[in-house]
Amino acid sequence: MADPKKLYIKTYGCQMNVYDSERMAEALGAEGYVETGTPEDADMILLNTCHIREKAAEKVYSELGRYKPLRAKNPDLKIGVAGCVAQAEGAEIMARQPMVDLVVGPQTYHRLPEMMKTVDAGKAALDTDFPEEDKFEHLPKARKNLGRPSAFLTVQEGCDKFCAFCVVPYTRGAEVSRPVARILSEAEALVARGVKEITLLGQNVNAYHGAGEGGEWSLAQLIWALNDIEGLERIRFTTSHPNEMTDDLIEAHATCAKLMPYLHLPVQAGSDRVLKAMNRKHTAAEYIEIIDRLRAARPDLLLSGDFIVGFPGETEEEFADTLKLVERVGYGQAYSFKYSARPGTPAAEKEGIPDDVATERLARLQALLGDQQRAAQVAMVGRETRVLFEKTGRFEGQLVGKTEHLHACHVEAPQELLGQVARVRIVEAAPNSLKGVLV
Ligand code: 5AD
Ligand code: SF4
Repeated sequence: MADPKKLYIKTYGCQMNVYDSERMAEALGAEGYVETGTPEDADMILLNTCHIREKAAEKVYSELGRYKPLRAKNPDLKIGVAGCVAQAEGAEIMARQPMVDLVVGPQTYHRLPEMMKTVDAGKAALDTDFPEEDKFEHLPKARKNLGRPSAFLTVQEGCDKFCAFCVVPYTRGAEVSRPVARILSEAEALVARGVKEITLLGQNVNAYHGAGEGGEWSLAQLIWALNDIEGLERIRFTTSHPNEMTDDLIEAHATCAKLMPYLHLPVQAGSDRVLKAMNRKHTAAEYIEIIDRLRAARPDLLLSGDFIVGFPGETEEEFADTLKLVERVGYGQAYSFKYSARPGTPAAEKEGIPDDVATERLARLQALLGDQQRAAQVAMVGRETRVLFEKTGRFEGQLVGKTEHLHACHVEAPQELLGQVARVRIVEAAPNSLKGVLV
């Protein structure tokens, strides 16, 4: 028998891309491809790309450039571009980089096996449709055992919110929720292979409204159903929009035992004028009210957020409103970005602010967020929590896992605890992780 073909996938961007990469590997796995960790020995290289900011999108072309010598050495090497750059740029990618054999969008990757046949026949393959059929129904049902106790599960895709800066509604399409029964059976399959923690994914995950028994289910209803799966210990979800933070979902943070006390709830900016220009459809006060209600439901909730500085027209006072909001909320973790004009989005038509002003504002915001993150880590010292051990540490006898609040945590612990949840007391806050001891 011939050696199996080797597939190298490189993933950029969000967790939804991580999930998609796993599913693409499974789809090609069914065709006999095995994954390799290095591009050098691959027969097929697939870049799963991100289009959210200019920097992310440009990385694709510099990475493709690096494969030129590999292709020169191995003319049979196939190169594909998947994900959001593929969706946004389509055939342009092949025009700019003729080495690319295949371009596939996030909604058509179930067609990869077919597309590979075209490529193997020496022709280019391009598919960036938004098809009628549900891609998940055309992917292998059995999920691969990746040997990790924590898994992603996409439950919702796309976005109808059209924030003025964002490419997602164009690259991922309209909002769609997967049916409840299919999510539950995928979750059960994951748990059967040892998964203890599931993170439900969606660009707008809390807008989830999938078909279930008795009608459409909310995300909270779905979480409650997952809570009943024996062997599943932890549930998380990301990313949410403030306007979809429904009462039942807030309440689930108080009452649902397996739902972890961590929430990523992006606000982007603290000025009402900027929020309006961003088409966020909520005010700073409304966001804070939601945070207060969440904290009343779950006092130890750790909050995470996304921020954009230097949106077109942002004044110094408006930026100061973002700092004020951050002070008021207190984040345990956050992502902040300089505004990047994206082709095709409404905000891209407006004149931007000077780059040095935006850079300086980003530094100030990141300093504040960094202090808050540090304070949240230090506040964990002395507390008892539970850690899900995911891998062995750098030092012998050490395991590394995640706390309930999603902090990385190093603990001296026996190998048998790998893949398990154990009680841990936090004894130290190192710069990027916590240190704990088994209780
Ligand atoms: N420029 C900068 N940041 C952006 N984001 C989305 N679009 C842009 C853009 N054009 C950020 C937002 C979003 C996160 C995923 O990326 O903060 O929540
Ligand atoms: Fe983009 Fe999120 Fe806004 Fe949708 S809600 S347009 S994904 S920032």
